[in-house]
Amino acid sequence: MAKIVVLYDSHSGNTAKMAALVGEGALKIPQTEVRVRSIEDPSAKEDVLWCDGIAVGSPTNMGLLSWKMKRFWDETMFDVWMKLDGKVGCAFSSEGGSSGGAEITCQSLCTVLINFGILVFGVTDYVSKTATCHYGAAILREPRGDEDRDVCQILGKRLAEWSAIMAEGRRDQHPDAKPDLRLKPS
Ligand SMILES: Cc1cc2nc3c(=O)[nH]c(=O)nc-3n(C[C@H](O)[C@H](O)[C@H](O)COP(=O)(O)O)c2cc1C
Repeated sequence: MAKIVVLYDSHSGNTAKMAALVGEGALKIPQTEVRVRSIEDPSAKEDVLWCDGIAVGSPTNMGLLSWKMKRFWDETMFDVWMKLDGKVGCAFSSEGGSSGGAEITCQSLCTVLINFGILVFGVTDYVSKTATCHYGAAILREPRGDEDRDVCQILGKRLAEWSAIMAEGRRDQHPDAKPDLRLKPS
C-alpha cells in the first residue's frame, strides 16, 4: 500500500474542501491508503512521518502559506528534519480573488517541502481545455463544478502514482505506462 497524507490548514473551509478532493483523487490508484488531516489534528505529525507521499494545502495568505502552516513546519516538525527525505510532495491552495496568488502560495509550500528533502513535482496533464495544475492545484475560494474537482483530484492521483513508484517500485503506475489516460490540451 502506498501511504498518502493530505495535510491542510483552512480558516473558513475552502482549502479543507480541496483537501477532501485531493484525497479522493489519490484513492483512484489501487492499493493506496489515504489520510486527510488538518494541521490541528493531534496525529498530524505522526501521519507525516508515516506517509510515502504528502499533499500540503493552505489558504493563500498575502501570496504565501498561512502562518499556521508555517508554524507547523517551524515548530511541530522541526525536530524530524532529515527524517522526511525522499517522500513525494505537492501543494494546493485556495485564493480569495482570481490571480490572488494561489500558485505562488503553492510555490511557498513547495519551498518548505524541499527544505525537508521532499521531492516535489508538477502535473503536465490538463483536465479541460483551460485547466491544469502545473504548479499545484489553485482554486478560487471553494471548489465548484467539475473543473475544480478534477484539478484537485488529478493532483492527488498523480501523487499516489509517484508514491507507488517511489515507495513500492510499482513501475506500472508511471504516467507513461498508461498513455491512454493522460489528459492533454485539446
Ligand atoms: C490574512 C489573509 C490574507 C489573505 N491573502 C490573500 C491573498 O493574498 N490573495 C487572495 O486571493 N486571497 C487572500 N485571502 C483570502 C483567502 O485566501 C481565501 O478566502 C481562501 O479561500 C480562504 O481559504 P480557507 O477557507 O481554506 O481559509 C487572505 C485571507 C486572509 C485571512
